[in-house]
Amino acid sequence: MRAVILAGGTGTRLRPLTYWTNKHLLPVGHYPMICYGVARLRQAGIRDIILVTGRSAVGGFADVLGSGRDWGVSLTYRLQEEAGGIAQALDLARPLLGAEEKFVVLLGDNLFEKSLDPYIEAFLRQPDGAMVLVKRVDDPHRYGVAEFDPVTGRIARILEKPIHPPSSYCVTGIYFYDGDVFRIMDRIEPSLRGELEITDVNNAFAAAGKLAHMELDGWWTDAGTFASLEEAGRRLKGILP
Ligand code: G1P
Repeated sequence: MRAVILAGGTGTRLRPLTYWTNKHLLPVGHYPMICYGVARLRQAGIRDIILVTGRSAVGGFADVLGSGRDWGVSLTYRLQEEAGGIAQALDLARPLLGAEEKFVVLLGDNLFEKSLDPYIEAFLRQPDGAMVLVKRVDDPHRYGVAEFDPVTGRIARILEKPIHPPSSYCVTGIYFYDGDVFRIMDRIEPSLRGELEITDVNNAFAAAGKLAHMELDGWWTDAGTFASLEEAGRRLKGILP
């Protein structure tokens, strides 16, 4: 399976650090943040990674990761010319992926403890559609939150940063898709903030009855705020998968 790491964005919640560098290049423990995602994917047997980032930051990623050779992977860089949302960033990988290919998408600020192996195996067994990983959190309003169908137990829909979260299960930034994801992206409209939202993409899968989910084991953090960045540093100090 191949992977796409999304490492763009403006990192507004980490200003002023992100005035001078991309969030995913900030130090977490002994490594720039991006290294953990690459190492996690490599550890799960993924060798081919498409990295999407912004124009001004790509040199920093190339300095840290190069071609990927020293990290045991092959990296292909795609550049997002301006911030347009997670789904728009993902769309930049489309020309590089097969029309029916199954792949994993990782938001580069999502750091977590356990291997992706069991989730990749489960998704490869899933006939088609998408799968998201959920995690119980104390502050669901900061994330996409799963609303479950009381009868089937499946995700009925995802609400993005809701004031009144329907559950305490956050949808993490670890997504598994088949080729339908790009057909869905052709159909969805930009949100009120003018971005193609990954939550709208996932909700289209849910509406079609094709969104599976699993609970992510071990700790998880999104490292997108000072508190979570510090937590990630404490947990990951010097440890690469
Ligand atoms: C994004 C997604 C959100 C998800 C989160 C996980 O939010 O939109 O659904 O729960 O990543 O890290 P962002 O961090 O871009 O605000």
